Amino acid sequence: VSVTGASPATQFAQDIRDGLTAEPRYLHPKYFYDEVGSKLFDAICELPEYYPTRTEAAILAEHGDQIVARAAASALVELGSGSSQKTGFLLAPMLRHNAGALYVPVEISESAVSEAAERLIDEHPGLRVVPVIGDFEAELGDLPTADARLFAFLGSTIGNFTPAQMHDFLIGLGRVMQPEDSLLIGIDLVKDRAELEAAYNDSAGVTARFNKNLLAVVNRELDGDFALDDWQHVAFFDERDCWIEMRLRSARAQRVELRAIDLTIDFAPGDEIRSEISRKFKRAQFGEDLSAAGFSLEGWFSDNDERFALALAQLSSS
Ligand SMILES: C[S@@+](CC[C@H](N)C(=O)[O-])C[C@H]1O[C@@H](n2cnc3c(N)ncnc32)[C@H](O)[C@@H]1O
Repeated sequence: VSVTGASPATQFAQDIRDGLTAEPRYLHPKYFYDEVGSKLFDAICELPEYYPTRTEAAILAEHGDQIVARAAASALVELGSGSSQKTGFLLAPMLRHNAGALYVPVEISESAVSEAAERLIDEHPGLRVVPVIGDFEAELGDLPTADARLFAFLGSTIGNFTPAQMHDFLIGLGRVMQPEDSLLIGIDLVKDRAELEAAYNDSAGVTARFNKNLLAVVNRELDGDFALDDWQHVAFFDERDCWIEMRLRSARAQRVELRAIDLTIDFAPGDEIRSEISRKFKRAQFGEDLSAAGFSLEGWFSDNDERFALALAQLSSS
């Protein structure tokens, strides 16, 4: 297992300063995933209200063989792989076709990847794993090559991008992909508001802990003093933008200092920081978004209730 790339502390400091001094304020969701945040995300995936993970897993269990056969790939490049819980549904068929298949998880959370890599090597004899620890928005230039690669972006992580960010991301991905490569994207679909909102407001409060952990990450990295008990978790469906928006709301008037970057911020009661968006998609629009970025939709796999979908795409031949 080799590790390349790094997550620069200066980038973190700059991103946090930019976000907390912007209007409206925001924090980049990639910073949720320190070791604690990655574990909390795994706990979210097990929640009864959080349908995306188990729905996507069921779709992969049913269609993984077919997806791999259509991609005819000998390498799987997984963006934002986290703990790689669903990856086996793609790796097992890939290894049946190609005993020396390669797995390249591209992930910002080193702790999540190293645990996952060890487990996958144990479970899939012959699998070669080349992790890339870093930012998938920045570090895709140097990926291992293969005759044909399947790029997978699961868990509806693509929904964390705004439409403009998603477009730019897909254009960038298109530049590093070869004509033989395929792209598999897991997306959450538009559905009833109550079901959507419940998934981000679980009764056990795990999503609230996940959300507030972002403040703990900022405290640790930038010598800050966010008092986590003085912040409330907020998540609601924004119908106009068609996304779930997650925020942190100040419960009282408070001053926060981030000593490492000399930043002091005063928050009034009710002031909010946006911490994540999670877009919900429709098939026709997603197909158009793909073509606008130079991809064509080649396959669509969904559950019977159309809660979640996996879109299989290739570069459009131009
Ligand atoms: C919503 S979770 C999905 C995890 C897993 N793919 C799944 O389906 O359960 C997003 C994952 O992407 C990673 N991630 C988020 N932003 C990232 C970035 N900019 N670069 C690399 N990894 C990122 C996080 O650390 C996390 O593991």
